[in-house]
Amino acid sequence: MNFAVLCVSDRCYEGICKDKSGPLITDIVSPYGKTVDYIVVPDESEKIRKALIYLCDEVCADIVLTTGGTGFAPRDVTPEATKSVMDREAPGIAEGIRQKSMEITPKAMLSRAASVIRNKTLIINLPGSPKAVRESLEFILPVLPHAVEVLSGNTLNCGGSYEKGGG
Ligand code: MTE
Repeated sequence: MNFAVLCVSDRCYEGICKDKSGPLITDIVSPYGKTVDYIVVPDESEKIRKALIYLCDEVCADIVLTTGGTGFAPRDVTPEATKSVMDREAPGIAEGIRQKSMEITPKAMLSRAASVIRNKTLIINLPGSPKAVRESLEFILPVLPHAVEVLSGNTLNCGGSYEKGGG
């Protein structure tokens, strides 16, 4: 699998903070595949949208993982920008992350993260903190190879038989 990482943070973009979550994502996903691109943008809808479209349509990443901008702060717009570039919803992943994360902290209900499909790319919003990134990713990672396989249109179903174009 090819991953791309998009850090959404005003402070990281301006160089006030060093992004810890982006490199952590690259590290955690490394047993599953390669991170082929990494971009940092501020919390601005149009810049997030452009970066997502580029990572999906030009870089052709299998999975784009965003970090940050999913909360209630006035400038948190990552979920809205993500939904604005989608072809189809894939809500189960974001719901799964929230459900699992709420076993760890009730504050997980403050994440408005989305998960969507654009063409053959899965886009998943993760929260901003390294702790939340780790807790979220470790839960969903084992499911992602199957997600990418189904998205490609060539599916080995649960019984192991081959179905072309189906799922
Ligand atoms: N999810 C997990 N697994 N662990 C956490 O510590 N923190 C929450 C939530 N999700 C948290 C979590 C908090 S405190 C916030 S404000 C939201 O994610 C949104 O974070 P963001 O604005 O950095 O994206």
